Amino acid sequence: MPLQLAERSNLIEPSATLAMGAEAKRLKAQGLEILDFALGEPDFDTPQNIQDAAFRAIKEGKTHYTPPAGIPELRQAVARHYTGRESLPTDASQVVISNGAKHSIHNALMAVCGHGDEVIIPAPYWVSYSDLVKLTGASPIVVPTTEESGFKLTPDQFLQAVTPRTRLLMLNSPSNPTGVVYSRGELEALADAVLETEVGVLSDEIYEQLTYGDAESTCFAALRPGLSDRTITISGVSKTYAMTGWRIGWSVAPAGVAKFMADLQSQETSNPCSVSQWAALEAIVGPQDSVGVMKAQFAKRREYVMERISRLPDVTCAPPGGAFYAFMNVSRHFNRSLRGITVSDSTSFCMAALNTARVALVMGSAFGAEGYARMSFATSMETIERGFDALEEFLAS
Ligand SMILES: Cc1ncc(COP(=O)(O)O)c(C=O)c1O
Repeated sequence: MPLQLAERSNLIEPSATLAMGAEAKRLKAQGLEILDFALGEPDFDTPQNIQDAAFRAIKEGKTHYTPPAGIPELRQAVARHYTGRESLPTDASQVVISNGAKHSIHNALMAVCGHGDEVIIPAPYWVSYSDLVKLTGASPIVVPTTEESGFKLTPDQFLQAVTPRTRLLMLNSPSNPTGVVYSRGELEALADAVLETEVGVLSDEIYEQLTYGDAESTCFAALRPGLSDRTITISGVSKTYAMTGWRIGWSVAPAGVAKFMADLQSQETSNPCSVSQWAALEAIVGPQDSVGVMKAQFAKRREYVMERISRLPDVTCAPPGGAFYAFMNVSRHFNRSLRGITVSDSTSFCMAALNTARVALVMGSAFGAEGYARMSFATSMETIERGFDALEEFLAS
C-alpha cells in the first residue's frame, strides 16, 4: 500500500503567486522571453551595508544556533522600532523573529486558532491567508469588499461577520494585492468595532514603509489603549530592504502569545538563519538611505504603470497607495476572444496573457476577487514598458 497523505493535505493549494511564477519560469526554460509581473519581490539587490553585515557575521563565526525567538539584539531593535516610531511601548519579549513574515503569520495563527474557530479575512486578501488559517483547523470567513468602497472593510461589515466562534480579524494595510492603505481614521473606526467584541487582530504590516503620495501606514495595535493586548503585528525586512531570500520576518504579540510562538518555533525550525538575523539587524539599525532610493523607484514606476493602465482598453485600476501592485479590473474582457482564446474568468485571462503575450500576471481569483489581475511593478522600468506594449496588443486583438 503506497504511503497515504494525511487529511490535512486536502486543506491547502500551492501558493498561486508562486505557481504563476513557476509557470513563467517553465516557459523561460524553454527559451521564451517572459515579461514577468507575477512575483511580489523587489528586483533590487540587497543594499551593500546589509550584505557586508552578513559577511562579517560569517567571518565572526555567528553561524551557530541562535535562541529560538531570535538574537536578543534584533528582538530589541524591533521592540525599539515600535516603541519609538509607532509610540507603542514594546518589550523585546513580545518580539519573535521568524523565517519570513509568512512564517510569523503561520506561527501566530497556530498560537490562537484551532478547530471550530473562525477567522475573518477581508477580500481581496493575500493568497496565503486562507490556506494558513485552514491549516490550523479554523475556517476562513471571507468578507468581500468592493472596488467602489476602495476595497476596505467597514466596521459594520466586520461586526456582521462576527460570531461566537470568531477568534481573529486579519488586516493588511498597505495591502497585497490592491495596494490599498487604510487611513488612520478608518482603522480607528475598525479598532473601535473590534473593541466592542472579544475578537483579536492579526495586522500584517509588511509593506509599512512602502507608501506613496499622501498615503501613510498606521500601526493598528497602537491606535487605542488595550488594543495591543489582542493584536499580533506582523512585519519584516523582505520588502522594505529587498531581502526576500534572507527569510526574516517578525511578530509582536502579547507576551504569552509570543512565548508560545517561540516555543513552537523551537520545535519546528530551532531558529531563523543566524547570518540573516545579523543582516536584518543592520537593515533596521543601519543607514536607511537605500530605502529612500528604492521607494523613489517604486513611486516612479507606479506613476508610469497608472498612466499606461489608463490607456489599456476596458481596464480600470484604483491607484495603489502602497506596496508595489496594481490590481486591474479586467472583467470587461470576459466572454471575449483574445488572440483566439475565449477568456471567461481571471484565470483564463492570465493564462491567455502568459501564453500568447508572454506577460505573467496573477489571477484575481487567487486573492478571493474574481474579475481582476494583479501586476507587480517590483520589476525594471524596461520590463514594465515592454509589458504594457505587449498587453496593449493583446487586449486589442
Ligand atoms: C501581505 C504579505 N504578507 C506577508 C508576506 C510574506 O513576506 P515574507 O517574504 O517575509 O515571508 C508577503 C509576501 O509576499 C505579503 O505580500
